[in-house]
Amino acid sequence: MAVFASGRGTNLEALLQAFPQGHPLGEVVLVLSDNPEAFALERARGRGVEALFLPWRGRRAFEGEALALLAERRVDLVLLAGFLRLLSPAFVGRWYGRLLNIHPSLLPDYPGLRVHQRVLQAGERETGSTVHFVDQGMDTGPIVLQGRVPVLPGDTPELLERRVLRLEHRLYPKAVRLVLLGLARPPEAFGPLAPSLLALPPRERALGLKALALLRAWGREDLLGEALQALAAPQPGEGGRDPWVRGAFLAAHLLACPHPALKEEAAELPEPVRGPVLGALKRVESPL
Ligand code: GRF
Repeated sequence: MAVFASGRGTNLEALLQAFPQGHPLGEVVLVLSDNPEAFALERARGRGVEALFLPWRGRRAFEGEALALLAERRVDLVLLAGFLRLLSPAFVGRWYGRLLNIHPSLLPDYPGLRVHQRVLQAGERETGSTVHFVDQGMDTGPIVLQGRVPVLPGDTPELLERRVLRLEHRLYPKAVRLVLLGLARPPEAFGPLAPSLLALPPRERALGLKALALLRAWGREDLLGEALQALAAPQPGEGGRDPWVRGAFLAAHLLACPHPALKEEAAELPEPVRGPVLGALKRVESPL
């Protein structure tokens, strides 16, 4: 994996810790920054990871050099972590499905900059962070994972930022684990089902993408259409009939938010569904 970072790099630090050299799922092998002063570069070097400053002499030049380095270092997944430049549609198109970003809000709410200030001004009671596949829009790509934190009375943008950052340091490595395990894929990975997935509201789409990826990982490709139908046009009782579909939705929820009540329900699923559901949760929750 490569990480692009422009600043202090606390998310980078969390990724370096989660995916050190030799990690069986993947390792961070390269850090690129457009800012020579970025503390992110020092963090990477401190952990023995190659860290390069690539001057921003325009998008074309930067991306050309970055693409060459990614190919040379045989990078499979690029993680944006506080990278403040916009990548071109060509770069994003080439890396689509293998390019992630973290944004400090519950997307699709509050894309863009000065998020915490806007969240406070709007009187929100809850905020969070989103890891998403990068597409050609700004903070619009398919959601991999979201986490939530409360907005507390008396919060300042700085307090809120710190709370969200603590959340992000857990959320980003977990989202990367999901992607590396093949349990989160972009809609296009589901071929003919992609248009229906894209038509769903972003957060339901995120749930559907995980449920479909789980069914695929379990070899139940035959149930993808039924699961999508249950999500797109929920009918009481319908779609919940197949225990694999129910197990996939339960697991998809649990992967995002391991609520004890849902965990109990998962433990009571009938075999042979219970094993794969609990197995997926274990693999995503455990750091190795
Ligand atoms: C994070 O809040 C992230 O969501 C946003 O930029 C910030 C980067 O912080 N994209 P850091 O450099 O990782 O500390």
